[in-house]
Amino acid sequence: MDKLAVFSGNAHRELANSICAGLNVKLQDAFVSKFSEGEIRVKINENVRGKDVFVVQPTCPPSNDNLMELLIMIDALRRASAQRITAVIPYFGYARQDRKDQPRVPITAKLVANLLTTAGANRVLTMDLHAGQIQGFFDIPVDHLFSVGVFVDYFSKMNIKDLVAVSPDVGSIKMARAYAKRVSAGLAIIDKRRVSPEKAEAMHILGDVEGKNVIIVDDLISTGSSLIEAVIALKKAKAKAIYAAITHGVLSGPAIERIDKCDGLEKLLISDSIPLTAEKKHPKIVVLSVATLLAEAIKRIHNEESVSCLFD
Ligand code: R5P
Repeated sequence: MDKLAVFSGNAHRELANSICAGLNVKLQDAFVSKFSEGEIRVKINENVRGKDVFVVQPTCPPSNDNLMELLIMIDALRRASAQRITAVIPYFGYARQDRKDQPRVPITAKLVANLLTTAGANRVLTMDLHAGQIQGFFDIPVDHLFSVGVFVDYFSKMNIKDLVAVSPDVGSIKMARAYAKRVSAGLAIIDKRRVSPEKAEAMHILGDVEGKNVIIVDDLISTGSSLIEAVIALKKAKAKAIYAAITHGVLSGPAIERIDKCDGLEKLLISDSIPLTAEKKHPKIVVLSVATLLAEAIKRIHNEESVSCLFD
């Protein structure tokens, strides 16, 4: 492991440290700060010549700063002769704009993929992308992990009977099916319409949830509108206990207030792909760590071993 070097920007040092603990290596030293006018300033304080470098940096809010830090760190590492640079992006931001679904809109997921490659990334390690097809926006290898195992372990210990995994929209059906298979649950789907970026509406529920305990499964929670609408619809359809397992806790704008007011929701499980700041902590929110999963993937990539066993 002497060629392995793990660095972090400022997005989520705690996760980077936990990953390093799992790998039994020290987080490498880099100065990542700002000039007085706000431009990102980076200096790699270690020799990385010939090293297999991993930069841990979710591109969560503040997304622009975190993305620029990542790009600039990769540039510095490439110019310092790192042998291979893997961008470890537990949460890949700018992913929701992934197709031209209206005239004159960008495809930011592709733009970010191009930026990472241009900066000098040789590979990407990420988790629960908003759409799996985003892998194809890269012409470098992408290892796309799933957090389902981490959440399922938690639910298995709770030993809840009569479970149904619910996808709050068509986009998360595959994820909900993965949960349903692993916890031997039924499957239901909500027909969701998005009225605006902050407001979603649940129209119908496809599947039987009456008298069942349910887990709402999604890749990300931003304003919380999709989740709250799903909870209201499930309550109306006479579901019993309602849990949510959502990988990326973006929790922006009114999200915490909405969760607080949402009577029907027992628990919201999120991963630590994004740091949960103090003002976002809430008794209903449980954070499960994906550090061990990411550390194992990094170890396998470094040792040129298959990572596909991590998808089971
Ligand atoms: C949508 O396709 C996503 O999977 C999430 O359901 C959505 O982005 C969550 O956003 P919000 O919490 O603002 O409803």
